[in-house]
Amino acid sequence: MPDEHYENPRLAALYDFDSGWSVDRDFYLSLATNHTFPLGILDLGCGTGLLCKAYAEKGHHVTGCDPSLSMLDVAARQPNGDLVKWMQSFAQTFKSDDRYDLIIMTGHAFQVLLQDEEILATFSVMRQHLKEDGLIVFESRNPVINWKENWDYSMSLDLPEGKVQESRRFVEEEKDRMIFELWYQFPDEVLVSKSELRFLSHDAILNFLMISGLRVEKILGDWNGGLFHEPSSEEMIFFVRRVS
Ligand SMILES: C[S@@+](CC[C@H](N)C(=O)[O-])C[C@H]1O[C@@H](n2cnc3c(N)ncnc32)[C@H](O)[C@@H]1O
Repeated sequence: MPDEHYENPRLAALYDFDSGWSVDRDFYLSLATNHTFPLGILDLGCGTGLLCKAYAEKGHHVTGCDPSLSMLDVAARQPNGDLVKWMQSFAQTFKSDDRYDLIIMTGHAFQVLLQDEEILATFSVMRQHLKEDGLIVFESRNPVINWKENWDYSMSLDLPEGKVQESRRFVEEEKDRMIFELWYQFPDEVLVSKSELRFLSHDAILNFLMISGLRVEKILGDWNGGLFHEPSSEEMIFFVRRVS
């Protein structure tokens, strides 16, 4: 099951208010801007599909896949939501006869894959659904950075139904996993979502890719195109191709 903050319709409806358009989405969108022909694009863990819609509005053929029906419901109801093919599935069990030019996994969705088997199955799905000369791009937070130090936040959201206070709280670390809670204080109730993310090292991800028949073309360390530098980069943005 996806976490409560993706599964609960009231919380899924909040997603675009606290995670709206951002520099990482500009980055992913730019991957498809120099192409004059429509690309086939697959977004695994698409959430509310802002990026899918933006690609589709540029004429690309886009499939957005997410296990949460609540997130997909928000996605499909947005203006131009009908330009995208929405599919309910976990990344690791996604199946289609289509083959894609570009497969992405964004918003650190890769880090929700907690088990080695889930990661291997996801890479296998990516490889299987990628065209021969296709490109896979996904990112994960660099575990060398002390994420827990700045993990907590609190923000007030002005929604049509009233003010909602949202806060994120670090709970504990267990090996390469971080456990945290999201609290949502609505005018009439408080909802709490417990969550867990995996922070794999750069070497561990490279190893999973290698044994999945995938090769790394480059790794960026930020959304401005800077190369990954393990001691200081916050992001590890992997550009991956099939081993032919
Ligand atoms: C942080 S959101 C990212 C959404 C979107 N990619 C973005 O950039 O805004 C993580 C998404 O991953 C989805 N998710 C959870 N488990 C998943 C899995 N095993 N495979 C694919 N997506 C998953 C959640 O439902 C949620 O929509």
